[in-house]
Amino acid sequence: MTNSLQPALQSLLESAQKAAEHSYSPYSKFRVGAALRLSNGEVITGTNVENASFSVTICAERAALVRAVSQFGPGIRIQAVAVANLNGLPSPPCGACRQMLAEFIEPGAPVAFPSASGIRIMPFNEVLPEGFEFKLK
Ligand code: THU
Repeated sequence: MTNSLQPALQSLLESAQKAAEHSYSPYSKFRVGAALRLSNGEVITGTNVENASFSVTICAERAALVRAVSQFGPGIRIQAVAVANLNGLPSPPCGACRQMLAEFIEPGAPVAFPSASGIRIMPFNEVLPEGFEFKLK
C-alpha cells in the first residue's frame, strides 16, 4: 500500500521508521517512531522511551511533540504525522497522543500509521473526533 502514497508522506514514514531504531523499549520490545511535519518546513521525530515504572513511559508521538515545542516554541503547527514501528504490527497513535497532538495540529492534517491492512491515512479530525478543549465561558 505504501507505494501509492504521496512522496511527502512516504518520506515522513521513512523518517518515523528511522526514529524507531532509537527506541528504548526493553519492557515491551515494541519499537515505535513518529515524525511530524511542521508548517515551518521542519520534520521532527521521536521514539518511545520506556521506564521500569511502566506508567511514565512516553510514546513516540508525544516524544516528537515535546521535542518540536521545545525546539521551536509554542507557536508550532503540525501539518502531517507519520507513525511506524519495527515490529510489523498495527500502531495507530494512542488516545493520549491524539489528545496531545490536538493542541498543535491542523484538523485536516493527514495521519499515516500502520494498520492491519497496510498504511492507513486519516485526517486528524477523524482520528480524534471529539477531543477535549478547555474553554471556560
Ligand atoms: N507506544 C507508542 O510509542 N505510541 C503509541 O501511540 C502507542 C504505544 C509505545 C509505548 C510503549 O513503549 C510501547 O509502545 C507499548 O505500549
